[in-house]
Amino acid sequence: MAINYSEKIPNNVDLSGNKTLQRALEHWQPGFLNWWSEMGPDESTNFEVYLRTATSVDAKGWAHFDYVKMPDYRWGIFLAPAEAERKVNFGEHMGEPAWQEVPGEYRSTLRRIIVTQGDTEPASVEQQRHLGLTCPSLYDLRNLFQVNVEEGRHLWAMVYLLHAHFGRDGREEGEALLARRSGDADNPRILTAFNEKTPDWLSFFMFTFITDRDGKFQLAALAESGFDPLSRTCRFMLTEEAHHMFVGESGIARIIQRTCDAMTEHKTDDPAKLRGLGVIDLPTLQKYLNFHYSVTSDLYGSEISSNAASFYANGLKGRFDETKLADDHKLHGSEYPYMEVVGGQIVVKHAPALTALNERLRDDWVADVQSGINRWNRIPEKAGIAFRFTLPHKGFNRRIGLFTEYHVSPDGKILSEAEWTRQHSAWLPSEEDRAYVCSLMGRVAEPGKFANWIAPPARGINNQPADFEYVRFN
Ligand SMILES: [Fe+2]
Ligand SMILES: [Fe+2]
Repeated sequence: MAINYSEKIPNNVDLSGNKTLQRALEHWQPGFLNWWSEMGPDESTNFEVYLRTATSVDAKGWAHFDYVKMPDYRWGIFLAPAEAERKVNFGEHMGEPAWQEVPGEYRSTLRRIIVTQGDTEPASVEQQRHLGLTCPSLYDLRNLFQVNVEEGRHLWAMVYLLHAHFGRDGREEGEALLARRSGDADNPRILTAFNEKTPDWLSFFMFTFITDRDGKFQLAALAESGFDPLSRTCRFMLTEEAHHMFVGESGIARIIQRTCDAMTEHKTDDPAKLRGLGVIDLPTLQKYLNFHYSVTSDLYGSEISSNAASFYANGLKGRFDETKLADDHKLHGSEYPYMEVVGGQIVVKHAPALTALNERLRDDWVADVQSGINRWNRIPEKAGIAFRFTLPHKGFNRRIGLFTEYHVSPDGKILSEAEWTRQHSAWLPSEEDRAYVCSLMGRVAEPGKFANWIAPPARGINNQPADFEYVRFN
């Protein structure tokens, strides 16, 4: 179904056929725009940005590119097409027709799931709001803004579900989503990782590579939901998420490329010399990777979780690629491995697969992060540089789950408090590292020019030439 842009709220859900819902969302819209002007990208109101906008939700051609002022971006409600006679595909309701309305018994659980997902969307916009002031190029500035407007649209996606299916409670949750603020002491965002700062572009690229990838896996698990409107909403969000991860992966790849070029040209791997040349040494990139990886890992929750078990048994949240997996889709009697500390040693144990679903989704994400890292590693490999990026142990720097109480080194050894204190600045960005990275951030806003610490991209957005004016400042 094509998207109707003549309406105040573009949509492919026949909004005008439901006047009450339409009015409720039109009432929420000015609050959203206020939030955008207060918490969206800093000092960007008049910029004309070369953005893509969804014109239909089919696989090809849903993206249309044009210059748009961000406050005029057509945020709307787009669901993937309905699948005829879709069923609940897992859990104790398996085989029943998928639910078009919220089952009463799961109402509060589903609302919580949707609110928690929805809260991450505006949170990331808030975390990234100052980055435009220090963009390394117009190309990167445009990508940042594309990510930001789409995270805003993801908020719309979740608020639509709340308004359409949760009545008054849903409308109140919609207001609360506009009221919380990332990092606020009194009214913070729900999840810890979304209250961290994204102070520089290295952090932004790591965030979009790693944390947006958590978004991918959470959305993929919700796309399996027996609650069909949630499934269809998440399926379309996933198409937008792919671009966010591309921005992160290619952003870091370009930083690695630039550093490797400098290492080759100046025949050095000395971090001090490389910093003198104004590029980011590879060990510092590894530390940022360790930080973002461990903080994001916490988003999957505890390794063993009865909530995860009931979300699954009740048909609300599936596994990644649920319908492609060949088993009973109920997990009766099956087990899944996880790690735990026993007597000062990390050991592998097995738990009922139902209670280990958080760990399973985390493992799917880890494998996906690892393949991106393998692609990064081809850059030093090609340059004949020995350095390789690696993922730290799952227990490293964790605040949630079975490793919370322990200090674990990146190679998986349990450390004493003293050992951790002595060594952790070799593994996580120190104040000095962060100050150095911040010192590189300065605005480069001339078409075709790039900051010294990052290589230009291999090709432009929508095949535009290298010196394309992605943002017009006016
Ligand atoms: Fe998102
Ligand atoms: Fe995203």
